[in-house]
Amino acid sequence: MKTRFVCQTCGAFAPKWIGRCPECGTYNSMVEEQIEKKKELRKVNGAIPVSLNDIPFAAKDRQSIGIAELDRVLGGGFVKGSLILLGGDPGIGKSTLMLQISSLIARNNGHILYASGEESPYQIRIRAERLGSVNSGIDVLSETDLDSILAAADDMKPTLMVIDSIQTVYKSNLSSAPGSVAQVRECGGDLMRFAKERDITTVLIGHVTKFGVIAGPKTLEHIVDTVLYFEGEKTQQYRILRAIKNRFGSTNEIGVFEMTESGLKGVENPSSLFISDSTTSGSAVTSVMEGTRPLLVEVQALTCPASFNYPQRVATGIDYKRLAMLLAVLERRVGIGLHGMDCFVNVVGGIRVMEPSCDLGLTLAIASSVKNKAIERGTVVLGEVGLGGEVRPVFGVESRLKEAEKLGFRTAIIPQKNKRGRGKLMLEIVAVNEVREATKIALGL
Ligand code: TYD
Ligand code: MG
Repeated sequence: MKTRFVCQTCGAFAPKWIGRCPECGTYNSMVEEQIEKKKELRKVNGAIPVSLNDIPFAAKDRQSIGIAELDRVLGGGFVKGSLILLGGDPGIGKSTLMLQISSLIARNNGHILYASGEESPYQIRIRAERLGSVNSGIDVLSETDLDSILAAADDMKPTLMVIDSIQTVYKSNLSSAPGSVAQVRECGGDLMRFAKERDITTVLIGHVTKFGVIAGPKTLEHIVDTVLYFEGEKTQQYRILRAIKNRFGSTNEIGVFEMTESGLKGVENPSSLFISDSTTSGSAVTSVMEGTRPLLVEVQALTCPASFNYPQRVATGIDYKRLAMLLAVLERRVGIGLHGMDCFVNVVGGIRVMEPSCDLGLTLAIASSVKNKAIERGTVVLGEVGLGGEVRPVFGVESRLKEAEKLGFRTAIIPQKNKRGRGKLMLEIVAVNEVREATKIALGL
């Protein structure tokens, strides 16, 4: 089949690859695609609109996997014939997770085709031994030519097909290299059609670049049914599985896993993981909502005199700009300046915190480090901080406080506007309007 190049920015065509689009002038935007023959417009059988009412409705088959953390993220399990993209940094545990899932499905009389272009069958066997996942129901195919993989899958009719990874497979009629946008898009399209036509659940593993986008596979996000994202710090043992898109369930749920000697294990009560027992200064416990579940997390700050003229600001697990804003608020509204001081902040357990409800906790942690005074143990801090130094309300206070109480917390510092009707809790509630009040209460400043 003939191919042509199309600009990803303006849609202009070119017969050959060129570095700069002649229409819009964007560099490096031309991507190869196949030219399909123009079909005549005619009505073939079946191209008749059907009333929404008359479409037969039956709940799709769902296959529960048996790992509670995973089933919840998926909304109950894999939907038959769906296409799932599993993205994450290299080495985070994508292949491990898929091999464990394969083995669980195989134990339930499923048949799995595991196509790997990343590792040799021998390497996969070694990993399976380690995971206790060796099972005759898993067939390993060491192949990267997509058409051969699909032919094998067509013969085998597996319950689940795993492509490890989408960046290594290619279609031989495209000249671009495996992993390029053109290859990933064409392969993804073919896999989508195959999954739907043959009703075979298919998981595509995709690597992510440093910038946090699923390289190449990003273009797949809109065609696949579900996008799962595996995140965490590689050096820490906890991993979080998040659904970014889910045509068959909610996207708010997360699954928490622990990487152990023998693979990934679901963590049922994750809150306790992200809190250390420290009683030193510079630490505060706050809470994030992950879907319907509140999770208590500890944020830590360390400030010390800078050894260079230009002080460092280092944020792990927290948005750097948010940190800069909170430092400015501390300086202007509370009078705690960080002139000539380095400031490091970190979230315990390698989790990433994006919610503004953690602002107050982080601000108090920094103030606590600057003043070298610890916040009393057993205190949980909630609240968004505004530029005026005001503390704004957060959502889901009820469940966040319940979770804190469950873990033995005794005091909660919350926004004044969230105070109403908190009668049933045993926690002592301290409501604040401003950051200054909160520092006074928590640190006696
Ligand atoms: P892997 O699944 O190969 O990552 P990905 O497919 O996302 O690139 O995971 C590799 C890491 O996981 C590696 O650093 C070793 C670690 N690991 C364990 O800690 N325990 C295990 O049982 C396994 C199989 C891997
Ligand atoms: Mg892998």
